[in-house]
Formats: sequence, structure tokens, C-alpha cells
Amino acid sequence: MNIGILTSGGDSQGMNSAIRAITRIAIIKGHNVIGIKKGFQGLMNGLFVPLALRDVGDILHRGGTFLQSERSSDFYFPEGQERAIAHLKEANIDHLVVIGGDGSYRGALALYQKGINTYCLPGTIDNDIAFTDYTIGFDTAVNIVVSLINKIRDTSTSHDRTSVIMVMGKGSGNIALHSGIASGADAIILPEVPWNIEEVCQSIKKGYDRGKRHGIIVVAEGAGCGSQIAKEIEKRTRLETRSTNLGHVQRGGSPSAFDRIFASRMGDKIIECIENGIPGIAVGIEKNEITYRTIQEVLNKKPDFNYKLYEIANNLSQ
Ligand code: F6P
Repeated sequence: MNIGILTSGGDSQGMNSAIRAITRIAIIKGHNVIGIKKGFQGLMNGLFVPLALRDVGDILHRGGTFLQSERSSDFYFPEGQERAIAHLKEANIDHLVVIGGDGSYRGALALYQKGINTYCLPGTIDNDIAFTDYTIGFDTAVNIVVSLINKIRDTSTSHDRTSVIMVMGKGSGNIALHSGIASGADAIILPEVPWNIEEVCQSIKKGYDRGKRHGIIVVAEGAGCGSQIAKEIEKRTRLETRSTNLGHVQRGGSPSAFDRIFASRMGDKIIECIENGIPGIAVGIEKNEITYRTIQEVLNKKPDFNYKLYEIANNLSQ
């Protein structure tokens, strides 16, 4: 069989590990693998490169995606999809693996509905896909954020300051919630939970009253603007407050061992689905088991938010 692979949308650490696993397992089982450069945009332009075993050597530990990625608006129009299908047919690609987030899943579903055998693998640092407990990149991103907050905490303590740290997550507070718990944040501001500035200020003040020498607030980008929140905190509490937007450092660097192993396990599952004739699916991890669901089912469900974890974070900051 001829298997195409592309990475789409925002990159995430571990995408390379997934490409490597899919390529190697497919070749060992007697299939051909074709890398598609620059996501759906590259698919519409026929940017194909055959992949051999050694072509995916030395990438397991590297961040980013060696196939590169793009957010393609043209692909969401039927003409773009038809162009992509024509290139797939011309290259005799019978199966297409799409690694990315929910936007990429929508692209894969559109192709599946037009007769292409597609398979999705969750690659986004946001951890915002239904029917998977994790997405590749999330674990690495959270660890990066925690190590950066440790540094911010040092300087905040030296100056008795409060720091507002803005992390990625347009529509999801998962990075903020997990890194906030792991950093002992005084408050975590998320798009999933209503919040108000007065409660955030009270929580910081309580921390100082208890003898803390710094305040740490973690904000998901989808819930508010870090610098404005910092200004408001300073105005209301009279505590010296700084803000830091961590930005794209969260998406770079070497994937964690967890992300590498998880990506490899999911790559293996994709090949199993291809060989067993199960297209139109997305793989994931549920209770430490690698599972698959239909792409439609995944897109129809809002990802679960862990309210229990949020409650734990609140109790721990008292
Ligand atoms: O990959 C998802 C995400 O990290 C979001 O959390 C963030 O808002 C967005 O990507 C940033 O994307 P871009 O790199 O296109 O600015």
C-alpha cells in the first residue's frame, strides 16, 4: 500500500516521533511511505517526497516537524480539496495520515467524505481533542512552562513581586491548568471557568498575608490578556506586578519521553488500522490504552475539561 503523511496546523513536539513511527512500521510491513510537505497546502500543490527508513533517522528527539506545517485556508473550499484529491490519485496514495489538531481533523474528514482513506493522529500542544486523554506535544509544553515559571518565581521572590504568566491555549485552559498546579500558582485563569479580577486579587493578597514572597498567576491566552490583567492587579492591590507572555517557546524543543513513546504507540495503531481496513478514524489514548474513534465522532464531541483538577488547584492555592 502507498501511505501519505502530512502534519498540519500549529506544530507540536512529538510530530517527528509520530512521522518516524508511521514510516518505519509501514516500511517494515512492506508498504511505501510518501511524506507530504507543508500540510494541506503542500497536498494541494503536490509537494511529495518518498520516505525511506533512514529519511526519518535523527528526528525522534527534535521539536517541530521536518515535513513542515501550514494553516491552509484554501483547503477549506471544495476546489482546494479536489486539487488535493487529484494529486493523491496521481501519486497512487491509497491512505493519508493527518497529524494535527481539530482544524486538521476537519480537513481529513472532508477528504474522507470524498472517498479518501484518512487517519488522524492528535498533534497539538493544547490537549483539546475529544476521546484522547493527551495530544502529542502537551506533556512537553507543560514541562517547558513549568521550568520557565520556576525561573520567573526566583526573580519575583527577590523583588516581592507578583507575576502574571500568559500561556498558549486559545480555546483551552489545559496548559494553564496543568502548569499552574505544577507551579503552585495563586490563581489560574482559564476560558472554561468564569473568573473575576477581584477574586484573583484576593487570592494573591492571601498568599502575601501567609508569608509568601511572590504571587504567580497563570492565564490561558483564550481567557484574557496577561499584561492588562497585570495592570489591573497592580492598580487594585498596589503590589508590584509584571507580566510575561511565554509565546512560541512552548511549541519548540525536544519532545519529552512521554510524547515520543505516545507518538510511537499511536503511529503503530494507525498502521494497524490501515492494514485492517479501518479508515476515517482518529487514534488517541484513553486510560493508557491506544484507541480509535471515527473522525466524525471526535469532532462532534467537546473535549472534556477536568473540573476536578481545577478544584484541586483552587484548594492548593488557599
Ligand atoms: O497550536 C495551537 C496553538 O498553540 C494555540 O494555543 C495558539 O493560540 C496558536 O497555536 C498559535 O498559533 P500560531 O503559531 O499560528 O500563531
